[in-house]
Amino acid sequence: MGSNAPSSAAQLAARAELQGFVQVTDSRAPLYARLAVGLADDTEAVSLLAAAPASARIPVTLFAAIHDLLLADPSEPLAAWYPNLVATPRTDDPVPAARELCRRRRDDLLALVTTRVPQTNELGRSAVLLLALAALGDEMGPLALLDAGASAGINLIPDRLRVDYDGHQVGPGPLALTCGVRGKAKADRLPSAVPVVADRRGLDLRPVDLGDPEQVRWLEACVWPDQTDRFDRLRLAVAEVRRTGVVVQRGDVITDLPAALAQLRSGHPVVTTSWVLNYVGEDGQRAFSAVIDDLGRDRDLTVVNYEEPDLTPGLDWSAELATESLSVLRVLRWRAGERSVEYLATGHPHGYWFSWLD
Ligand SMILES: C[S@@+](CC[C@H](N)C(=O)[O-])C[C@H]1O[C@@H](n2cnc3c(N)ncnc32)[C@H](O)[C@@H]1O
Repeated sequence: MGSNAPSSAAQLAARAELQGFVQVTDSRAPLYARLAVGLADDTEAVSLLAAAPASARIPVTLFAAIHDLLLADPSEPLAAWYPNLVATPRTDDPVPAARELCRRRRDDLLALVTTRVPQTNELGRSAVLLLALAALGDEMGPLALLDAGASAGINLIPDRLRVDYDGHQVGPGPLALTCGVRGKAKADRLPSAVPVVADRRGLDLRPVDLGDPEQVRWLEACVWPDQTDRFDRLRLAVAEVRRTGVVVQRGDVITDLPAALAQLRSGHPVVTTSWVLNYVGEDGQRAFSAVIDDLGRDRDLTVVNYEEPDLTPGLDWSAELATESLSVLRVLRWRAGERSVEYLATGHPHGYWFSWLD
């Protein structure tokens, strides 16, 4: 590689991550696939990624940092290749412009990759969560939602959705989602209405403050630019969450859960988690279950998980689902101290489609 050779273990690791990224992205992110291949050979880009903390030394950290600069200044030349930033993106090689940006804006990129970690909040999961929340609304009346690992709180507004499940419409809007139904349609099980939400609250180790434009921009920057539908609906969702006045408090999903739940004032309490418990490790998953079991002994409570079983072995999945690599929608009910489990569906991690489980 001559002068392009990485000079440290961190740089070797960063270059390997960039080289391997193309296998992860396949057809879902053609722009990032091209950038990853091109930047893997660029000492400047590799050294930038190598400067990220080891736990965040993944290509999406560098790509989010680059995207952040383009969102802040769409007149940056590289923005011309981003499908979410220009009406007619360029299709020729984006790598020279990306390399030039990495050199010219090195200090800005360094500040981002050394201080930020990739952050996501996927509204599409609300379409799958709604299957459980609507049924709970029918069963229990107005709900008090606590989203554990809520990020910016975007999945706390099921009452603001209008979901199209393969032609079956639910909800008054204004946030429109589409969600495919795979396998047996079972139209009678689809929600007939969105639930009434009496109270709502989020809990997150690193809540996204929607009043801070830099935090909002970073959340947007973490969406892959080829996925323009996700980008557009994130912007709409952020506006709606702001209008609804959702509070996401800082705290841990295990140790701070009881206090956060106690702050909900009215409605049947429902704790939701989506793509969070894979971050707490197997012991943390067991601890989460123990905390919830304790709470459920004393009061009626429901937990709705949309998590991937093979990444959450501590969550006590049924034997048939324990190695499932799709996301699974599960409802745990405590009623008068008795616990019951219902497995509703498997689905796409971003909620593009689901399939009923029985
Ligand atoms: C992949 S995001 C998912 C966010 C949201 N639930 C969704 O479905 O879009 C994971 C979130 O979990 C949060 N998180 C990770 N570990 C946590 C913990 N121990 N306590 C609270 N939040 C945590 C992260 O800060 C991040 O906001």
